[in-house]
Amino acid sequence: MIKIENINLAQCLDEGSQAEIHLINDAAVVWEKDLIVWVGKKDHLPQQYQKIETIDGKHSLLLPGLIDCHTHLSFGGWRSAEFGERVAGVPYSEITKRGGGISSTVKATREANEEDLYVRSARFLQKMRSLGVTTVECKSGYGLSLKDEIKLLKVYKRLSISQPSRIVSTFLGAHLVPKESTREDYCKLVTDTMIPEVAKSELAEFCDIFIDDHAFSIDEARPIVAKAKECGLKIKLHVDQLSSGGGAEFAAECGATSADHLEYISEQGIGAIKHSSTVAVSLPLATLYTFQKPLDARALIDAGVDVALATDFNPGSAPSYHMPLTMMLGCTLNRMSPAEVLKAVTIKAAKALSKNDIIGSIEVGKKADFVLINTPSIEHWMYHFSDNANRLTVINGEIVYKAIKESLR
Ligand code: NIG
Ligand code: FE
Repeated sequence: MIKIENINLAQCLDEGSQAEIHLINDAAVVWEKDLIVWVGKKDHLPQQYQKIETIDGKHSLLLPGLIDCHTHLSFGGWRSAEFGERVAGVPYSEITKRGGGISSTVKATREANEEDLYVRSARFLQKMRSLGVTTVECKSGYGLSLKDEIKLLKVYKRLSISQPSRIVSTFLGAHLVPKESTREDYCKLVTDTMIPEVAKSELAEFCDIFIDDHAFSIDEARPIVAKAKECGLKIKLHVDQLSSGGGAEFAAECGATSADHLEYISEQGIGAIKHSSTVAVSLPLATLYTFQKPLDARALIDAGVDVALATDFNPGSAPSYHMPLTMMLGCTLNRMSPAEVLKAVTIKAAKALSKNDIIGSIEVGKKADFVLINTPSIEHWMYHFSDNANRLTVINGEIVYKAIKESLR
């Protein structure tokens, strides 16, 4: 059993509005093995927890571990030359059309072996833990053949066993039609071969589809969604990213766990999502790197929709795993308050992964996943974008990152 005290705590419960973070000043949290057993004011700490091993939080802010609920963590190569072109004015869609973009990462990913992809992804996860990220959703989608999609999902399976970050795997075979296939053949391969194989081998929990003019249409997505559900996979969708295509409405219609991007969500889309349990996921780094207009998260939050925030880490549209940067952009681009952003990367992100029963808030019975941020307030943390303010990352009750050499204990 172990406790942390001298902390201000933001519990981030699901109840209340997205701006209610449930602050407790001068708090203490006790955990046993991987689970939280007591939370409250330090003054109210029961006798039996007084003498146990104690970490001094030094008046920092204790938050639920940050959840990055949308990444494309494993890929071969980078695309920095393309970045220069995009900055010079070549649209993202233009680069995709001429075989660059996702296709060039597919080529590099196919050429990479599983071990190299594994080692590289493990390094990314280590850096993410230092920034306070405890759970990472990881998509395939740069293989686009049975063999190479399985290779990426196997990397995630190995990572989920070998290192401390919580991993949630998503099959994104329908990311783009690969150069060697016709649309029809590839959609058939995804539904008839890839999804059953991924489900049978328990390599993913979710199935995602990139719905866009340059990727898959809603009509092509329908049978993919149906097959994924039949095989027990839950649905996540990339929608309304580069143009308004009724993607949010489709996500709501098929009961998707989350609808991600949404820069071009329509009024009808907001209306549809409002009446569903689909979480809207904003990806402001991708908005920025693709020069799109930002998603108006206010309209969604004011309509009562749960809004999560994630990095979209990938080598093209969001080449950064920096969650605190993403959070600052959630405020400045998406017009969310710092409190709303905090819930967007904790309890709402947990909902976007159907994991809000075990992670996303600091309450008794949930997993002991925390971060300790050296800042006077949530507002100050997101406003003063500086070097890493995280002091400590705890996953499953274990310290997996500590900022300073001198012991906090
Ligand atoms: O989420 N939108 C589709 N897929 C990725 C981009 C992938 C890439 O550019 O390599 C995204 O933005
Ligand atoms: Fe994405």
